[in-house]
Amino acid sequence: MCGIVGYIGHREAYPIVIKGLKRLEYRGYDSAGLVLYDGADLKLSKTKGKVSDLEAKATKEISLNGTIGIGHTRWATHGVPNDVNSHPHVSNSGNLVIVHNGIIENYEPLKKELIKRGYTFKSDTDTEVLVNLIEDVQKKDNLKLGKAVQLALNQVVGAYAICVFDKQKPDEIVVARLGSPLAIGIGENEYFIASDASPFIEYTSNAIYLEDEEMAIVRLHKSLKIRKIKDDSLVDPYIQELQMNLEQIEKGGYDHFMLKEIYEQPSVIKDTYRGRLHANEGMIKMAGVEDNIEKFTNAHRILIIACGTSWHAGLVAEYIFEEFARIPVEVEYASEFRYRNPIITDKDVVIAISQSGETADTLAAIKLAKEKGAFVFGVCNVVGSSISRESHAGAYTHAGPEIGVASTKAFTTQITVLTMIALRLAKIKGTLSKTEYHTYLSELEMMPEKVQEALLTNEVTKEIASVYKNASNCLYLGRGYNFPVALEGALKLKEISYIHAEGYPAAEMKHGPIALIDEQMPVVVIAPKQGHYDKVVSNIQEIKSRSGKIIAVVTKGDEQVRALADHVIEIPESSDPLSPLLTTIPLQLLSYHIAVMRGCNVDQPRNLAKSVTVE
Ligand code: M6R
Repeated sequence: MCGIVGYIGHREAYPIVIKGLKRLEYRGYDSAGLVLYDGADLKLSKTKGKVSDLEAKATKEISLNGTIGIGHTRWATHGVPNDVNSHPHVSNSGNLVIVHNGIIENYEPLKKELIKRGYTFKSDTDTEVLVNLIEDVQKKDNLKLGKAVQLALNQVVGAYAICVFDKQKPDEIVVARLGSPLAIGIGENEYFIASDASPFIEYTSNAIYLEDEEMAIVRLHKSLKIRKIKDDSLVDPYIQELQMNLEQIEKGGYDHFMLKEIYEQPSVIKDTYRGRLHANEGMIKMAGVEDNIEKFTNAHRILIIACGTSWHAGLVAEYIFEEFARIPVEVEYASEFRYRNPIITDKDVVIAISQSGETADTLAAIKLAKEKGAFVFGVCNVVGSSISRESHAGAYTHAGPEIGVASTKAFTTQITVLTMIALRLAKIKGTLSKTEYHTYLSELEMMPEKVQEALLTNEVTKEIASVYKNASNCLYLGRGYNFPVALEGALKLKEISYIHAEGYPAAEMKHGPIALIDEQMPVVVIAPKQGHYDKVVSNIQEIKSRSGKIIAVVTKGDEQVRALADHVIEIPESSDPLSPLLTTIPLQLLSYHIAVMRGCNVDQPRNLAKSVTVE
């Protein structure tokens, strides 16, 4: 995935574009570029590397004037990250410039055809093919840019969000989307374009989110027109008021977004349940659930589809739904689900979990589930995202923008939403006793305070990080509700510190992974008092007898494990089902500190992007 930005109006475009790209760098950061039109010619600068490298280069090599400009921060799909493959790409005539987020799947035949027609290519990208295709279409019938873009896109197979302009007509930018997000900020005779609204939040709070297969021509002194790419029909623009504020997308004094987001968890969990959880009245009210309550209560099965951390939240939810609401649950990787022939009926409820709401595999899995007649409920963080719109109904997590590539607050807020749904169903189905139901409600309401307390583990995790920062491998073990937390802890460590880590159900250790244990192997064991405590203590003993180094996450005051482990991290007491909201906190902090100590780029780990909008 990539980030795209555009501006047209009365201000200098460069500062808006460069700042916008910095905010979108979470979407890709292996190369960056921008182009401005200064009234005479295009000023283009692009480079392999980060937006800061682009800034340094652009300041030296081009004049930074111009009130129209577009920019791009890239996560490479076609062609290695280098200066030439970076966007923007320019058409053969030198008139059209484009930035693109997505993949043009049929670019090879299109390229061959264009080569036959005399076009030449500098880069290996699909995007350079697209800009020349647009030019070719435009030239053939002397078309306006908007029409040429539309006809060209009708020849394209794939996904895109594009921003394109013609230096011969520098009063308009043409934008379009299919499968990749695109927002248009509307100011006073000025327009901001971006992959999400963060680049223009300080300029306007009015935005339009283009739908798939829509395009728009943003033109100075004219009102915005949106059309369907396929049939040219006009669409009424729906202008939304943005909920985001500037503070939410800045680091607020923290060294990294990831740390800020870890520390935000007490408050965002509260935001997640605010207005929904009413512990005193013994009620949970979630509009998306209530409006479709029969779908849930009549469901023969709940199928959860997601990727990465969201998939781990789905695994926690599997345990919770089955325990609380006694509905059978299956959890699937969206990428697997979409490519097999799953048995789905209209008695299934599919819950799609996604922080970004843009993950390509999850989106495709939803479409498949809908085709097969299932009711799809989306649990997303990003408001107005593709998955939230594609779902029949849903619930937002309200975690605020998550910018660090490693998901943290998304995980705990997803679990919060899913727990509330399970409790609501349990109440209707009578599958929990009254006492249990009310106790869980109150406990969930108290979670922000407990998570705050769990954050006090920061210092001890930092000390432990300094001991293991040079480890090559690490095992994470947990049982029951905390098995998915072990997976999540391992994922956090590997993605930001590049230490190989594996998560396992603790009891599975003896079926293989135990062979890995020696005095070099740190083993993080999640061992809260509730749940399968005695069994996990036995697992700890097995590790100890093989000289493994034990880092145990335990309930405050646990002396038994303290006597066995090399390090203990104490978290507040909780029930077993809600414990993942607490046990996950020190694991996030541990991976954070190890990554910082190893000099890794915590917020932008290598090879990754915040949301994977391509296959
Ligand atoms: O936006 P999504 O929740 O759909 O993203 C899913 C995964 O790509 C994401 O959780 C990824 O695994 C994170 N890097 C984990 O920290």
